[in-house]
Amino acid sequence: MAASEPAATPMEPPPHVPHRAPSDLADRLALGLTRLLRFVADTFFARRYGHRAIVLETIAAVPGMVGAMATHLHCLRRMVNDDGWIRTLMEEAENERMHLMTFIEVARPTVLERFVILVAQWIFYVGFFLLYLVSRRTAHRLVGYFEEEAVLSYTHYLEEIDAGRSPNVAAPAIARCYWKLADDATLRDVVLAVRADEAHHRDVNHGLADQLSGKPADPAPEAPYPEHADPAR
Ligand SMILES: [Fe+2]
Ligand SMILES: [Fe+2]
Repeated sequence: MAASEPAATPMEPPPHVPHRAPSDLADRLALGLTRLLRFVADTFFARRYGHRAIVLETIAAVPGMVGAMATHLHCLRRMVNDDGWIRTLMEEAENERMHLMTFIEVARPTVLERFVILVAQWIFYVGFFLLYLVSRRTAHRLVGYFEEEAVLSYTHYLEEIDAGRSPNVAAPAIARCYWKLADDATLRDVVLAVRADEAHHRDVNHGLADQLSGKPADPAPEAPYPEHADPAR
C-alpha cells in the first residue's frame, strides 16, 4: 500500500527532550531496566508494531493507577494535600487504557500474547507497587524512561506507515472520538496523537522524579498534551 501524505497536525514535529541523562545510581538502574525490557520487546515483536502497542499498553496503564492509589493512601495517612498528583496519575492510567482500546481495533493479540499479558501484568504490578513503596522517585524515573522508549517506538511505527510497510488504515471510531480527529483521520494521525501523549507522560514523570529528589524543575516546557474527549463508554 502506498504511503499516505503526512497529515499536517500540531502534534508534529517529534516531541522535545528525547533523553534525560541519569544523575545517580537509582536513575542508572531505572535506565538499565528500561533498556533490558526494550531489548526483550524488540526481540519478541520485531516490527509487529500493532501487536507491540497492545501488549506494552497493557503494562503502560499500570503505573499511573499504582501511583495514584499509593499517593491517595499516603495523603490519608499523613493528612496532607496531594498537590494534584492523584488526578494527574489517574488521567495517565486512563489515557494509556485508551491507547489499548484503540490498538485493539487495529490488531488482535495472539494466544501467546494474551498469555504474556497475563503473566506480565502480575509481575509488573507487584514489582512496580513494591518499587513505589521503596522509592517513589525511582518509580517515576523508571516511567519517564519507559515513556522515552514509547516515543521512540511510535516514531518507528510512523516510519513503517510512511514507508508503506504498515497499512495506513482508517482511524478507529473510538480514536476519532477520543482525540477529536476528523472523520477521514487515519492510523497515522492516531499514532501521532498517541506519541504526543507519551511525550507528555515522559515529561510529567521525569518532573515528578525531579520534584521528589529536590532538584530544580526542568526549565523546558512539558510536551503539550493533546486534547481528549471523555473516554467512550
Ligand atoms: Fe501508551
Ligand atoms: Fe505513556
